[in-house]
Amino acid sequence: MKTLQFRNGDQMPAIGLGTWKSAPGEVYDAIRKALKHGYRHFDCAAIYQNEAEIGQAFKDAFEAGEVERADLWITSKLWNNAHLTGDVIPALQKTLSDLQLEYLDLYLIHWPVAHQPNVMLPRERNGFLTLEEAPIADTWTQMEQAVDQGLTRHIGMSNFNISSLQDILNIARIKPEMNQVEMHPFLPQNKLKDFCAKHQILMTAYSPLGSLDRDARMKKADEPSLLNHEVILEVAKNNRCTPGQVLIAYHLHRELAVIPKSTNDQRLLENLQSADVVFSDADWEALTQITESYRFIDGSIWAGPQSPYALTDIWEY
Ligand code: A2P
Repeated sequence: MKTLQFRNGDQMPAIGLGTWKSAPGEVYDAIRKALKHGYRHFDCAAIYQNEAEIGQAFKDAFEAGEVERADLWITSKLWNNAHLTGDVIPALQKTLSDLQLEYLDLYLIHWPVAHQPNVMLPRERNGFLTLEEAPIADTWTQMEQAVDQGLTRHIGMSNFNISSLQDILNIARIKPEMNQVEMHPFLPQNKLKDFCAKHQILMTAYSPLGSLDRDARMKKADEPSLLNHEVILEVAKNNRCTPGQVLIAYHLHRELAVIPKSTNDQRLLENLQSADVVFSDADWEALTQITESYRFIDGSIWAGPQSPYALTDIWEY
């Protein structure tokens, strides 16, 4: 398995298991099966509301002697309602308690958007905090304190664009090491990737398969399909693999990490085996020539008349 190397030499397996949308009642089995298949990297978040069940699966696997904590790479994310000074460490401690862990390998600021404490998903303007009221720089200082306290080994962010990354780089004592964003052949993020490489910020691709199991309210009627795209199907045929494996191997080829979600035993294994897919130059050329451009997780939940944020605050356009 390929790994991504952090600045101190720590290695993160390039394929991790995504757990967004992994339902309570299913995620325990998914984690136990994934561990048996050989997954060693797990991507979690407080807002997925399944960390306690994931933690039970880790604990039971440790107690059964199947794997040791030191062999795993576990990431989690700070939710938007815990950005204010004094709120980050308790949020991380809650995640650690749910996951039944003493430390995380990586902790990420989930979005460059802040809510009032206790507001999970704001429905009204007063549920949000502006970046003047909750400066991301102050949130980052607390992320640094989490490293100082040994609660997480590495820190970074998710859904940050170049300008918000630059803001953090300008003030950081501990520089960010990861930016996790949506990436796939419809959204290669080339400019952001170049910027991150220049600043030694590693990247992880979320929603690599197009997140078809999203809530219907997060979907548009005319969304393009990654898994049925003609180029993906052709490259899959050439490599005697599945379209899902092409979409996962795409990131390995780019030296990025990728976190496909599955709770299905067969697809868990299939996705991990994407590590064996090696593209010919012609196949790679075809993948990079895909002209379709699409963002599945469009961030519109954070923008609009009820919010002080605009999509231009979040994405590069
Ligand atoms: P399931 O959990 O039943 O396997 P994403 O990682 O982009 O969020 O996509 C997750 C969705 O893709 C889930 O619906 C998941 O279903 C499905 N999925 C996972 N692996 C594959 C695969 N190899 N081929 C097709 N669909 C997959």
